Amino acid sequence: MIELGFAVRPRDVAAVSARLFAAGAGAVEEREGPTLVVWVESESAAKALICAAGVEVTRRALDPSWQTEWLRHLGPVALTQRIVLQPTGNATKVPRGKRRLWFAPDQAFGDGSHATTRLAARATERLCRELSPARVLDVGTGNGVLALVAAISCRGRVLGLDVDPAALGAARKNATKNRLSDRCKFSRRPLAQVRGRFDLVLANIEAWVLLELAGDLARVTAPAGHLVLSGLLCERGDELLARLRAEGLSEVGRDEEDGWLGLVLRPSARA
Ligand SMILES: C[S@@+](CC[C@H](N)C(=O)[O-])C[C@H]1O[C@@H](n2cnc3c(N)ncnc32)[C@H](O)[C@@H]1O
Repeated sequence: MIELGFAVRPRDVAAVSARLFAAGAGAVEEREGPTLVVWVESESAAKALICAAGVEVTRRALDPSWQTEWLRHLGPVALTQRIVLQPTGNATKVPRGKRRLWFAPDQAFGDGSHATTRLAARATERLCRELSPARVLDVGTGNGVLALVAAISCRGRVLGLDVDPAALGAARKNATKNRLSDRCKFSRRPLAQVRGRFDLVLANIEAWVLLELAGDLARVTAPAGHLVLSGLLCERGDELLARLRAEGLSEVGRDEEDGWLGLVLRPSARA
């Protein structure tokens, strides 16, 4: 059993509790601080809750024994048919014909164990290889995994955004480890403040955040560009698609894994 403690601002207790419940927490206990404490049984469930807490969490405290324990058990993951995501320190040989991406085991989301990362990575690799985007934006970059997938799949420049400074530190470290830091930059800038348009926009974030960001995601997607979305359960798809249609985006592709949905959209005039 894993115990997670989220230190939140007093005014955010109700909102963050609601998000944790919506993301699958069976119980949320409020302790002094205030700290919200939840218990889960798996690493992927823990990560989903950490991600769900989103911008409202000002500090997170994980049980140290859990932190070191699960990090020690991470191994290579087949992120796409071609790309293997491998933790640094793991000596497994990559099969012939596969491309290895290194990542430092860390609390930042993106070790490939969650279906949403794999869904987004597959679409990202395919679109990068087919369309060679010159500018890629990865919103909610976590440990930078999708930004790195894009960077090894095309020659374009990639900007990764995240609200979590720890995630940005992990993303920069991983870009350096993979010798991609010349083309991958990472920033805490809110999406609303990003100017210009991108040929490929990626966002693997909780459904409620995608709904909030829908207008800005549409704004930063170039007229001939593509938007890859992941992070929502299949049953939330219609709600998000309706919102995106209102922003002028049309669905042009979808994929599913373990009940999670991956979407590809384009500005409607070009769909
Ligand atoms: C599910 S993780 C995705 C990580 C990685 N891109 C992947 O595909 O595995 C979502 C990330 O989005 C970040 N995030 C949440 N709300 C955000 C927002 N409004 N703007 C930018 N990043 C956000 C979280 O801090 C977290 O690192």
